[in-house]
Amino acid sequence: MKIQTFASYEDMSRSAAEAIAAVVRAKPTAVLGLATGSTPIGTYRHLVRMYQEGTLDFSRVTTVNLDEYIGLSGTHEQSYRYFMEDHLFRHVNIDPARTFLPDGMAPDPVAEGHRYDQLVADLGGTDIQLLGIGFDGHIGFNEPCGEFVKPTHPVDLDPSTIQANARFFASEAEVPRRAITMGMGAIMGAHRVLLLASGQGKKAVFDASANGPIVPQVPASILQLHPDVTMMFAEG
Ligand code: PGA
Repeated sequence: MKIQTFASYEDMSRSAAEAIAAVVRAKPTAVLGLATGSTPIGTYRHLVRMYQEGTLDFSRVTTVNLDEYIGLSGTHEQSYRYFMEDHLFRHVNIDPARTFLPDGMAPDPVAEGHRYDQLVADLGGTDIQLLGIGFDGHIGFNEPCGEFVKPTHPVDLDPSTIQANARFFASEAEVPRRAITMGMGAIMGAHRVLLLASGQGKKAVFDASANGPIVPQVPASILQLHPDVTMMFAEG
């Protein structure tokens, strides 16, 4: 595991974008595992800039996102599909048909999880998986619990996650209580993992994930078992 510390969010974002761009330049048909949340927004901004400058081509890239709220369609402004369109997809030359997220409107979320895992497997796994980390140590929406869950699956969101995400909704009551998240199987199956965390509020969970015991109560700690992980931390 490589740990990199940056003085600023901007420096971390530029470096994360460079790492992703390097994967795409080496393999134009790369499969990118992408994440939502406030942390990767700067990374996406730099990827868009590289595209606009003509140094990055998304035309043959495929993306698979980590998660989606259950009950929100892709046109809902707080859906993660909408987030990805807004921050990345509609600004670059990616083929919309090659951008995948779990379907939050699927009638059977368990079956949707299996379909999604099959999709990721058929793609050969992700070449690089971008991750944020929750204050509770979650990756995707794999919340602290008694076990690491392998398949993509529906989850009840932790009260702290609902509270943290309420800032994006008109009120906490509007935050969906459930989501579908890529499980640890597909995350750990990535060829390379890049986890980003920013700000002192994430420092303790970042350190626990990087150096603490590997336990499902700190879901990101499982990454210590992955052979190619970079964890980036921005001080400010
Ligand atoms: P954040 O969320 O980037 O908005 O802090 C990270 C996460 O919950 O994974």
